[in-house]
Amino acid sequence: MPQPDQSRKLRILDVGCGINKYPGSIGIDRNPASRADVLCELDRLPYPFRDDSFDELRAIHVIEHLTDVIATIEEFHRIVRPGGIIRLETPHYSDHSSFCDPTHKHHLTSFSFRYFGEDHGGFGYYSQARLRQKHLRVKLLSFWKWLGFEFLVNHFPRYRRFWEYYLCFVVRGKALVFEFQVLK
Ligand SMILES: C[S@@+](CC[C@H](N)C(=O)[O-])C[C@H]1O[C@@H](n2cnc3c(N)ncnc32)[C@H](O)[C@@H]1O
Repeated sequence: MPQPDQSRKLRILDVGCGINKYPGSIGIDRNPASRADVLCELDRLPYPFRDDSFDELRAIHVIEHLTDVIATIEEFHRIVRPGGIIRLETPHYSDHSSFCDPTHKHHLTSFSFRYFGEDHGGFGYYSQARLRQKHLRVKLLSFWKWLGFEFLVNHFPRYRRFWEYYLCFVVRGKALVFEFQVLK
């Protein structure tokens, strides 16, 4: 896997940066009141960047607003270099915030991006883009976190599956934080 030159600054893209642009990153957003460096409609592909332009891409509470999740992830994959990192944060589908915002088009689970990885459940043909999931953190509502459920969900993948299948509309989730490495 090619490694970046350690002496140069990391190239970071903050997609849908809003007013919380990540320090040192290039921000893109369609809203002129945001801190975006590039105003861009994210549902219109391709984005105005060459292949492999970035070491890291962040999309924090953005993917759920976009029309085509698969095409968007493929575009992220195109503009991040091989071995680079994609960080996504999105509401968990059992959280109130997932449904109370009418601009959310998708309600996602901790398995929603598996189609890009090895554990694709037979649906790997949805996309040719490949990502390695390096990290996943499931955030639960504070009450359930204090009772220890967040620890169980994050440390035992089989428990996470059981929780999402049977419990999550009682033991409510809050958000999902993914870190993927781009494979090319
Ligand atoms: C919930 S805000 C998140 C902002 C920021 N990432 C944060 O964590 O504070 C979603 C952002 O995505 C932008 N956005 C949503 N849909 C978009 C689209 N189709 N094209 C461009 N930007 C979009 C919005 O303008 C908004 O700034």
